[in-house]
Amino acid sequence: MKVLSGTSNLKLSKDIATKLKLKLVNSNIKRFSDGEIYVEINENIRGNSIFVVQSSSTPANDNLMELLIAIDALRRSSAKNITAVIPYFGYARQDRKVAPRTAITAKLVSNLITNSGANRILTLDLHAGQIQGFFDIPVDNLFATPIFSRHIKKNIKSKSFVCVSPDVGGVERARALGRRINAGIAIVDKRRSAPGKSEVMNIVGYVKNKTCIIIDDIIDSGGTIVNAAKALKDKGAKDVYVYVTHAVLSGNAVEKINKSLVKKLVITDSIDNSKKIKNSNKIQVVSISTMMAEAMKRISNSTSVSSLFK
Ligand code: R5P
Repeated sequence: MKVLSGTSNLKLSKDIATKLKLKLVNSNIKRFSDGEIYVEINENIRGNSIFVVQSSSTPANDNLMELLIAIDALRRSSAKNITAVIPYFGYARQDRKVAPRTAITAKLVSNLITNSGANRILTLDLHAGQIQGFFDIPVDNLFATPIFSRHIKKNIKSKSFVCVSPDVGGVERARALGRRINAGIAIVDKRRSAPGKSEVMNIVGYVKNKTCIIIDDIIDSGGTIVNAAKALKDKGAKDVYVYVTHAVLSGNAVEKINKSLVKKLVITDSIDNSKKIKNSNKIQVVSISTMMAEAMKRISNSTSVSSLFK
């Protein structure tokens, strides 16, 4: 087994490789002066199982294209099989036609990755589980919930937790975390008037004097989380902590979180945010590298990946 890194999150790739006691595949990934991407593999990989690690985070189009070109280079270098390790699978929020005459980008991206030559996908907290069905190759979708529950148990002292889903789509995730930390759930009734704009209509569930743990797959503009925290506080919540897998953190999201009623935002390193968050003492990162490395080892050895979550 060998690990090739794209350029979206080199730190995570290095951490994964270190956990696997491997060196990253020697490669050149460069841009031509017009922006086109060039990938060259500088070592023999004939007959190897290759894991190519690349998130389709910002700049999403460049990072996605880089992944496709890297897979093509690996295929043409006679890799035995290629697993696309996509810690953050971008374009996933358009997973159905939200209005007439719109695209389903999650399906389009799945087709592109498959047709470029990937044999398998390893990803984390897909926006919607059913995106697995957009692929006709095996997909292993990992969950950050065990990492988050360990972090909560170690760092937050409370006798009265409630796990909060910031929208109806995330209820299953809140329930899964609730099971692990022995808490009930509450749901924010969120409406979106336009992409990037959200409004809280109501809170379903009892949050008064409780330590609320909001769990979500993505924080993008931060609007969902900031509004949910305010609504929970208005309903008498004691504290509001937030756990989010993929920190897209676009625009002034970090500033919004810093000024918000959120006590702590815990994110993973599926997206490299080291520069964006370095001055925020409200945002903390937990690493997925051990879990990703373990899943890759299990895929390589053909042993169970799902048992990681038992
Ligand atoms: C939506 O369904 C997602 O789970 C997130 O809640 C959403 O993408 C967050 O976006 P924003 O931070 O821009 O409100």
